Formats: sequence, structure tokens, C-alpha cells
Amino acid sequence: RTLRIGLIPGDGIGREVIPAGRRILESLPSSLNLNFSFVDLEAGYDTFKATGTALPDKTVDILKKECDGALFGAVSSPSTKVAGYSSPIVALRKKLDLYANVRPVKTTAGSSNGNPIDLVIVRENTEDLYVKEEQTKETPEGKVAEAIKRISERASSRISTIAGEIALRRQNIRTAAPGTSNRTSPMVTITHKSNVLSQTDGLFRETARKALAAQKFSSVHVEEQIVDSMVYKLFRQPEYYDVIVAPNLYGDILSDGAAALVGSLGLVPSANVGDGFAIGEPCHGSAPDIEGKGIANPIATLRSVALMLEFLGEENAAAKIYAAVDGNLDDAKFLSPDMGGEATTEEVLNDVLKRL
Ligand code: NAI
Ligand code: MG
Repeated sequence: RTLRIGLIPGDGIGREVIPAGRRILESLPSSLNLNFSFVDLEAGYDTFKATGTALPDKTVDILKKECDGALFGAVSSPSTKVAGYSSPIVALRKKLDLYANVRPVKTTAGSSNGNPIDLVIVRENTEDLYVKEEQTKETPEGKVAEAIKRISERASSRISTIAGEIALRRQNIRTAAPGTSNRTSPMVTITHKSNVLSQTDGLFRETARKALAAQKFSSVHVEEQIVDSMVYKLFRQPEYYDVIVAPNLYGDILSDGAAALVGSLGLVPSANVGDGFAIGEPCHGSAPDIEGKGIANPIATLRSVALMLEFLGEENAAAKIYAAVDGNLDDAKFLSPDMGGEATTEEVLNDVLKRL
């Protein structure tokens, strides 16, 4: 099987880590019978400065017509409003209907005291308060601002289904790489606040329950948790969780919070997922403070490559990359400066490739 992958480095260290992502794909063992072709695509703030748009139509067209998946580095978003500029990754999520934001948070067996953390947050990416329908009214008591929180059955159902599928797939990956986890059966935790928001979060909860009751998820343990106590337990006992599914706003907050559990931003991957398409994207930004020094940690990108492969149905290839990365972290001989080491991007990559 040959997969065509769009490479969108973007700005800053995106240009240093995306080539590492390409190299690990090219270095997968030939026994997997998996080949790749690549197409370099433009997007980002430098593209905006050069062409007047941060996301050229050509990039979107090629992704839609030619590609099976893509890797996105990072973009530098100006901190003050620049006329005509808007974030290309936000636009890409809309144009390709990438309705799920998937963020795994993981420590390795060797690096954690106690049980390793190995969870994934599956965040709905199209609705909730982020429909941005806000208004401000003048009243005799002063201004009142209101926002619409929209929850649909369709979006809640598809995000819950993908969460269930991710839980099953993670079980397959654990089986393919024994010794990397203590978990024996898949679990999905539905997060909501339906005790207060009985209609909106109530609909999310009810729809998620229904979707996850499908026959194909019979091996998945489904439970639910109110979002505030979820935060408490996530920080007290993160190793408890497997897959967490949440509406947009709670998912946004939980996923940034959970990323703090593992140390460096340079370790945390994500994927933007729709039906039949996935974009792997490290969670970090363009890191202007270390740009051009060759010391960016490539691991968030390498894990994003694995995550993309999972969604393209290549679980075995994904398991190999995860295991090679874990080996590098546990061994701790080639760590980049954000991890307290002295290794360059290239040296970290080469160590992971050797393990692969
Ligand atoms: P940042 O993630 O770029 O950097 C935060 C800190 O983490 C910096 O000290 C940086 O050196 C370090 N860091 C990040 N990734 C690293 C890696 N792979 N290896 C080693 N160290 C790493 O966030 P910041 O500084 O707030 O934003 C910089 C630019 O990136 C801004 O223009 C911002 O808008 C953009 N940004 C873009 C994102 C995206 O494309 N999805 C996400 C976050 C920020
Ligand atoms: Mg966020």
C-alpha cells in the first residue's frame, strides 16, 4: 500500500520537525509493506506575508484530491490583529471537516514513578460555545453578554463513535507492542455537566451513551464523569484514564491541562480527524526562541506521525513508532534540551530511527 502524505511545515520549528516526520515514515521496516509519497505544501504566516493568504487554495485542493493524510508543523500567529490574516489550521479543520481533535498524553514505563499515564482526549471540534454566536445587550443594569452553546445529536454521535473506535484501536496497539501498558481492556469516559445543563450537555451525554452502546463497542467499558470532578481526578489519578470524550470547550481545557502532566510541550502530539482523513500535528507552536538552532524536540511530531497512521488504518506501523519513541525516552541518552538533555533534533531522531 502506498500512502500519499501532504507535508505542511508552516513556520519556525515546524520546518525543523516536519522533515523528521518524513524521515520516520521513510524508515519504517519494509516488512510492513507500506510505502509513502510526499507532497510539500505551503501554509502559515510566512506564506501569508509572501502571498497574502495563510492557506493557499492549492494546498487545500491537493490535500483533498491527492492525499491520504498530512502532517502540519506549526504556525506563528501574530499577537496583534493583522488585516486579512487568519489561522490556516483552523481553516483547514473547517474545509476538510476534521471534526475530532485527538490528543494523547503519555508517559513511558521507565520515566514515570508508579503507573504510566496513557490517555487520550477526544475533543469535539465543530460546535458547543465555539460556534461563536455571541451578542452584547445594553440593559438598565448595564451590559449583558450572551453566547450560544450548540450541541447536536449528529456531532455528539460521531465524536462518541470515533472515541469508541480509538479505544478499540488502542487495545490493538497495546496487543501489538506488549509490555508497554498495564491496561487490559478499553474504556471510554464521557465528560459533561448535565446535572446543570440538562438540555445541551444532557443531549451530549445521552447521545454518547447511545453511540457507545453499539454492538461493535461491546468490549469497551463506558463510564461518565462530570467535568469538574473529572479535572480533579485527572490530576490526582491520571493513570486511571484511557479515552476521554468531551464537547469542544471542556475538551479544549482538559487537553491543555493534561499536556502539563508529561513535562515538555515537545512531547505532545495531536491529530485532526474527519471521515477518511487525518492531519497529524504537534501541539506546540513555532517556538521562535529556539528556531534555527536545530534543537527542537522532534518527538511530538514523531508521535503525531504515528497517530496519523492509526487513523489511516496502519496500527502496526503506529505501534512500532510509539515503541521506538518510548525506548528513546526510557533510555534517556539522547534527549533534547527541553527534556534536560543536550541532543539536537537530528540526534534524537537518529536514536529513534535506530530503535525502529
Ligand atoms: P510554543 O509552543 O511555540 O513555545 C512555548 C515554549 O515551549 C517555548 O519556550 C518553546 O521553545 C518551547 N517548545 C515548544 N515546542 C518545542 C519543541 N518541539 N522542542 C523544544 N521546545 C519546545 O508557544 P508560544 O511561544 O506561545 O508561541 C509561539 C508561536 O507559535 C506564536 O506565534 C503562536 O501563535 C504559535 N502557536 C502555534 C500553534 C499551532 O500552530 N498549533 C500552537 C501554539 C502556538
Ligand atoms: Mg487549547
